[in-house]
Order: sequence, then C-alpha cells, then structure tokens
Amino acid sequence: MHAAAASHLGYNPRLMSVFYVTTPIYYVNDRPHLGHVYTTAVADVLARYHRLRGDDTFFLTGTDEHAAKVSDRAAEQDMTPQQLADIMSQAFQDTFTKLEMSNNDFIRTSQDRHKQRVTQYITALLESGDVYSGDYEGWYDAGQEEYVPENKARTNDYKSDVNGKPLVRKTEKNYFFRLSAYREPLKDHFEKHPHFVQPEARRNEILNRIAEAEDVPISRTGTGGWGIPVPGDDEQSIYVWIDALFNYLTTVDTDDRRKYWKAGAVHLIAKDILWFHTAIWPALLQALQKLPGYEWVNLPAQIYSHSYWISDTGEKMSKSLGNFLDPEAIDNYVGEFGLDALRYFLATRGPLGVSDSTFSPDLFIEVYNADLANTFGNCASRVTNMINRYFDGKLPPVGPHVEASEAYGSTAHQCVTRYIEAMERIQLDRAGEAALDLVRAIDNYIDKTQPFKLAKEDGKLPEVGTILYHCAEALRIASVMLWPLLPDKVEELWRRFGCDAYVEALADRGAGDFDAWTNWGQLASGTPIEQGDPLFPRYQA
Ligand code: ME8
Ligand code: MG
Repeated sequence: MHAAAASHLGYNPRLMSVFYVTTPIYYVNDRPHLGHVYTTAVADVLARYHRLRGDDTFFLTGTDEHAAKVSDRAAEQDMTPQQLADIMSQAFQDTFTKLEMSNNDFIRTSQDRHKQRVTQYITALLESGDVYSGDYEGWYDAGQEEYVPENKARTNDYKSDVNGKPLVRKTEKNYFFRLSAYREPLKDHFEKHPHFVQPEARRNEILNRIAEAEDVPISRTGTGGWGIPVPGDDEQSIYVWIDALFNYLTTVDTDDRRKYWKAGAVHLIAKDILWFHTAIWPALLQALQKLPGYEWVNLPAQIYSHSYWISDTGEKMSKSLGNFLDPEAIDNYVGEFGLDALRYFLATRGPLGVSDSTFSPDLFIEVYNADLANTFGNCASRVTNMINRYFDGKLPPVGPHVEASEAYGSTAHQCVTRYIEAMERIQLDRAGEAALDLVRAIDNYIDKTQPFKLAKEDGKLPEVGTILYHCAEALRIASVMLWPLLPDKVEELWRRFGCDAYVEALADRGAGDFDAWTNWGQLASGTPIEQGDPLFPRYQA
C-alpha cells in the first residue's frame, strides 16, 4: 500500500524508519515573521506525522548569524554582532516555542559545535583541490547575501530579483569552490533521483542552470571578524552561505546522530534559496564525500522548495519590504483562533506548490469555519452529544446491523491510504482533505441513518448504538490523521475518548503506532465519552 509513496521519494521511508527534516536557518538581522513560521510549521507537521508513524525522527531549525546584514544592523544599533544575534536568535526560539514547534534541536551558526565542524570540512576541502584561491569581480545581492552571475544581473537590470534593490559591484580576493567541475556529477544525481528536487518545475529550472554553473566564492574579506575564519588565512571569513548550508550536517555529525544524515535529509526551503540548496550544497557534499573519513556523507534525499506568502498587494512578505505578518500579528491570530487553527491554515492553504498564496484574514476565517468549526468540531460535538444523551456518556456496543454501516471500515481505510500518500509527497492540503473526507462520511452517515429519530422509536436503541459506535470509531481514526495538523485539539478529543495512551505515547517527541491506531475497532464499548465544549467554536465577525 505504500509502494507509490516509496518510489516518489526515491527511498522507502517505511523501511527506513529514520526521518530527518530541516528548515532553512533564518537570518538574525530582524525578528521572525510569517514566512519563517510557515516553513517551520510545515516541517513540524511532517516531523509529527513521522513520529506518529513510529519513525525515529529528527527535526532541525535554527539561525544563520554570520551575515553582513547582521553586522551592519548591529552597528546601526550600537551593538556587537553577537549581541544582536543573541537577541534575535532568542526571538526566533521564543516564537517557535510559543507555537509549540517540536524541533529536536536549534542550531546557531555562532555556536562552537558548528564552527568547529565547518572549519574541519573546509580544511579538508582546501586540501582536496576543489577549492582554490582567485579574484572575484562581479555583482552581489546584499539582501540575499548572494553572488549574481553577469547574465542574470543583466536580465534583472542589475537589481535584486527578490527585493528590487540595486546590486553591488564587488572586487575581492576569494577562495573559490570548483562548482563547474560538478556539472556532470550533479546532473547524474538528478537523473538517478527524479524526486531529488520538488516540485518538478523547480527541478527543471535548476537542471538548466546547472549546465552553466560557474565556480563560486566560498570566502569573503572585510567582514570585520564576524564569521568563521578560513583555516590558515585569517584575512578571510567563510562566506556566510557556505557556513550556513553546513548546519544541516554539523548538527548531526555526532556519533549518536549521524544516522539521521545517512537516512537522507529532507530540506524544506522557499524558492528564493533554491540554487544554494540544489546546486552548491549537493556539489559541496559530493566533493566532501570523496575525501577520506567522509564516505558516509551522502546527499539529501529531497529538497522541497515552496513558494511565497504574499500580501494583498501582491508583494512577497519579507523583512526588507516591511510588509510581513510580525510576531504581534501572529499572536493575535493565535489568541483569537488558537494555535491549531493557525498551523492548520498555514499548512493546508500555504504555498507548498509552485504558486504563491495570499494571506487574507477573510480567507482565514472562511477556512476556520468551514473545516474546523463546521466539519471536524461540529462532527465531534454531534457524536459525543448523542452518546451522552442516549447512552449516558458510555460508548454503546455494536448492536443489530444498520444499513450503510458495512461500508465504514473500508471508507476509513481508503482515507488513511490517501492520507499516507499525500503526506509522503508533502501535499498537506490533500492529507487534510483525506482526514476531513472521513469526517464528512460520518456526517453523511448520520444524516442517512438518522439516529436522533431512531432513538425515539420503541426498541431501536440498540441500532442507535450500532450507528454511534461506528461514528465514534471513524472519528477516532480521523483524529489520528489530523494530529500532525491539529495536535492540541486532537489530544483534547483523545482525552474525551479515553485515548490517553495516545497522548502519553506522543508526549515529549515520542512515537505513535499509526498502523495500529488507524485499525478499525479499537474503542471498547462501555468507554466513557466526554462531551466537553466545542473544539472549534464557530467564528462570527
Ligand atoms: O535565506 N513566504 O534566511 P531568511 C514563504 N539564512 N516563506 C518565506 C517567506 C515568504 N514570504 N519569507 C521567508 C535565509 N520565508 C538564509 C537561509 S539556509 C542554509 C540559510 C522562509 O531569514 C522560507 O523558508 O531570509 C525562506 O526560504 C526562508 O524563510 C528565508 O529566510
Ligand atoms: Mg531572505
């Protein structure tokens, strides 16, 4: 049943049972905004899905600190770069903690554990011949901290293609990485691993560019000491992008964590940083892998590049444009609708594919009411309500056969299969739909069998019992699927259904038993079912 999913990723996640997911590490020149929360929330959903399935899961996020824009910003504010980095990195950590992100670690590039490992990798690369010293003359996008090739600069009128600001002319002595030597090895890897870069359109875009890849600087001068020194050359610092990309490896390059790297990382990013992740990063790894002691350094399993959240005016939300949803705005959404509602909206209505998404308050409310209040929440209320009214709050046994109920187990099974396939493809909207379709099937079943009418007829209560047992059991299975998207509310429902064991198993980044939990017939009749308040009260503006 998982064959399609396995071939899609190019490895079999079910056999592997070790899963490593990362987000970009974020710049600390400013506070977190919705874009950062988005990628981290998507990674969190995937990490929770894998833990739910029982996988040994590692989820990494963190901050990218050695950027020139960080030291520039610090100077403006009369701080050292480290002081600003400490404050901003903490702001990211606080935001993610408040949003209950379940990352296993938080890497900061100014930490010794990272700097030591990067120094070690660069030393090895310097000796390998893939790094050489030369002169750079060309264009630099300061906002993106990115060297821009002449042809691309010309096409964009010598402006940043991300924020529209003029490119800066740079002349400096640098160490270069021989990226041009990796055109063929990269192309080969892309061909052997058709799902290495997703979505497909991004893969094709990058393959074309790789054919013309030039060598790239991997060091900078004039950083005022903010950065990791190039081993053996104190005049130079390791270029912030090279420093940053290595975070994915440094964090897990320890005896007990190397298994995560070997399992094949899934890197989540947005399209602004596609080139670094799909060309420079894999080529660096290919270079490293050839060196003694680094044979275990394989390439990531997949780089998944999503699109942008844009504002109503159609611009990318970004720090430099100042049009982002800031931490206060995020707090307001959480305060009004709850944590789960925000992550559900981001995960299921976000720009995971190739098109951008608009964040509009009206759409948010519409989705909240339609999916959460009127579908999942309402169904939970209906079912628990009737169990309380007709059976004194105890789950009834399955009684005589009721028309339409035989289709139930198989409906649940189909939804679970669709859900797994969607999750393995990082299609969170479809995963959510598969779970909600099971909830809708419960509603249809209730409408069709009319237990509230039957309950008033003489001697029909055992049939009502059959109906409500089926409803409760299907709702339980739907809730298992919904947990990665709605962890708090689903755990609340589990407590009401006496499924405290699930809550305990998953606490503290623990593992679930998805296959067993989505099997039909787990709830014992006689179990007390608590009604409780509506999980998602309907929102009226
Ligand atoms: O690029 N919509 O950091 P950064 C969706 N430090 N996602 C968005 C977004 C938007 N409008 N804005 C930002 C860097 N993001 C480097 C990365 S990794 C080795 C180094 C998210 O602070 C998205 O994930 O500019 C994007 O790729 C990332 O934030 C860029 O964050
Ligand atoms: Mg950026």
